[in-house]
Amino acid sequence: MIKQAIIPLAGLGTRLLPLTSVLAKELLPINGKPGIEYILDECIDAGIKEIIFIISKKKEIIKKYFYNDSFYKKIIKKKNDPRIKKEYQKILKYKKMIKFVYQNRPLGTGDAVLKTKNLIKDNHFLMLLPDDLIIKNNCSKSMIKIHQKFKSSVMASMTVEKKTVSRWGIFKFKNRINKQNSLIEDVVEKPLVKNAPSNKAVIGRYILPKKIFNLLLNQKPGKGGEIHITDAIQKLIKDKEKFIAHNFSGKYLDCGTMHGYINSTLEIARS
Ligand code: G1P
Repeated sequence: MIKQAIIPLAGLGTRLLPLTSVLAKELLPINGKPGIEYILDECIDAGIKEIIFIISKKKEIIKKYFYNDSFYKKIIKKKNDPRIKKEYQKILKYKKMIKFVYQNRPLGTGDAVLKTKNLIKDNHFLMLLPDDLIIKNNCSKSMIKIHQKFKSSVMASMTVEKKTVSRWGIFKFKNRINKQNSLIEDVVEKPLVKNAPSNKAVIGRYILPKKIFNLLLNQKPGKGGEIHITDAIQKLIKDKEKFIAHNFSGKYLDCGTMHGYINSTLEIARS
């Protein structure tokens, strides 16, 4: 079973400036609820028991959101409001599951993953990228089922417009397992249109094997000088690790850009 999830949260959020000059993007409300809570609810519903947040000193406001006990206690004492009590109970439930590690320099997703090395207990763990919301179907839950059935690593995937391939990790598949799942042959981080092996993109849900840490320890920076998780995954694939691309059935919402962020509120309000 997959019991642990990790969430990289140390990103600067420059695409959402000026909002992110004072607030962590993951705390920005989407239809009245911080984006990170959608991600936490997806984890809990998928049976995850422990969630590791990778934050930075600059993003300690995220820790504060879950550790504001004295504030809640005072307010609840003053105003006996059942809504506030309920919200506090929810925060306490999340808090019990969360551990924090720090990535103070934004050196890439692979580097963020490496910070959790000493906390991962089982052979596989889940990673969720908080900019990517998937609604209407629990993508992590479906991926955990695939992982159990095929004893493999898994990544969420989606077909994208060819002209946008340089925004994503792009993969080529070896063979189709069934309608929604394929075995990956190659994956490359943000290729140019002319070099892209397909228009199938990796979306921010991954079930990764613990052995990825050993690769990350020695990995040289890739595109843009960052340590990419995609490069470590490609190495694992070449070392015969089975990676399945799961074409999820929920609706994808990109909350990492201003346009996508605004749209996600509209979509969730409508759903
Ligand atoms: C990251 C990954 C990329 C993936 C994308 C999904 O990129 O590096 O492979 O396709 O998430 O959202 P980022 O969004 O951090 O640029």
